[in-house]
Amino acid sequence: MSTYSPQEPDLAEHYLAERSGKLGTEGAFEVLRKARLLEAQGRSVIHFEIGEPDFDTAPHIVEAGIQALRAGYTHYGPSNGLPELRQAIARDLARSRGLDWADPENVIVTPGAKPVLFYAILALVNPGDEVIYPDPGFPIYRSMIDYVDGKAVPLPLKVEREFRLDPDELERLVTPRTKLLIINSPQNPTGSVLDPQDLDRIAEIAVKHDLVVLSDEIYSRLLYGGVHESVATRPGMRERTIVLDGFSKAYAMTGWRLGYGLVPGWLAQPMTRLMVNSNSCTASFTQMAGVAALDGPQECVETMLAEFTRRRAVVVEMLNDIKGVKCAPPVGAFYAFPDIRGTGYTSRELADKLLYDGGVALLAGASFGEAGEGFLRLSYANSLENLREGLARMKRVIEA
Ligand SMILES: Cc1ncc(COP(=O)(O)O)c(C=O)c1O
Repeated sequence: MSTYSPQEPDLAEHYLAERSGKLGTEGAFEVLRKARLLEAQGRSVIHFEIGEPDFDTAPHIVEAGIQALRAGYTHYGPSNGLPELRQAIARDLARSRGLDWADPENVIVTPGAKPVLFYAILALVNPGDEVIYPDPGFPIYRSMIDYVDGKAVPLPLKVEREFRLDPDELERLVTPRTKLLIINSPQNPTGSVLDPQDLDRIAEIAVKHDLVVLSDEIYSRLLYGGVHESVATRPGMRERTIVLDGFSKAYAMTGWRLGYGLVPGWLAQPMTRLMVNSNSCTASFTQMAGVAALDGPQECVETMLAEFTRRRAVVVEMLNDIKGVKCAPPVGAFYAFPDIRGTGYTSRELADKLLYDGGVALLAGASFGEAGEGFLRLSYANSLENLREGLARMKRVIEA
């Protein structure tokens, strides 16, 4: 029997594997926790921190899920996903972004889109391999790179380039150890969208330096004008691109946990094996709801986007009316990323001040990477009424 009797704080150090300490988290969950504590004390808090649509899943999708439960879709299914859904996804990838070569065999269905990221990094990155990722960017990229002992190489996104990555700067960061490039368009947290010329250059660089590209396209349907394009359509990219997408944002299905990756043929087996070893499969009835989402009417997406468009206009106008704050309209997703450098606060100071003095929960740009300093992320997945109230509170606190 062990004679070791550590105090509480020592237990983690004693028992946990070293890599446990390397996992990061998402600022949104931490801010939500603080906001809930305030609410428990009777304070009113307006929530701009959450990255999920405030809409319910469309009734025909919910109905398809219920029908599937009744029809016995309650068992294990294939680890890479039900054939019905993988076929629907392949059809949709052809329709929505011209990937007419997408083979259902190369589609991996996962519980939410996050596991695609997790598995791709586990499958590809050896200790010391370099991974270039957007900064500011979705915090899980960095967390996963660190977890597998990869070398995280941030690619700063700058306001001067509307937060689109600079291909020249990207190429300067490539070394013989660079294995993977992560891109995200439309982007969280900045709402930026890569333009066709950016995609051409990114593809050229990836081919020239033999990089694998993980293209996070989870916001592909949330674009304010124009059509979504994938880097996977560019010459030489088919065998080196992982397209990540899912149902959480476009179909307001965050709680269903349903996402997918389109992966090159050589990666399909290793990714499937990671599913076998972790989740076994994605919930079967959820997948049938996904078939209904892709094959059914798309009005739910259009209605949500029309509402986001209205809110975007109000948010951008009201932000620009606050002294020291500047905000360009986001091109995609549902986040505003205002420049707050004129207020004299750091992003963390201001996020805290807004929460505690104003009852407005939002995220510091710095929680998305160093290059996010000087900005805040405000999700407008909230009613117009709450947006107006929250922004009026922000104005009061910042201008006081
Ligand atoms: C950029 C980005 N990628 C991936 C995800 C993960 O989505 P899911 O909820 O489907 O796992 C999110 C969710 O916030 C995101 O913002």
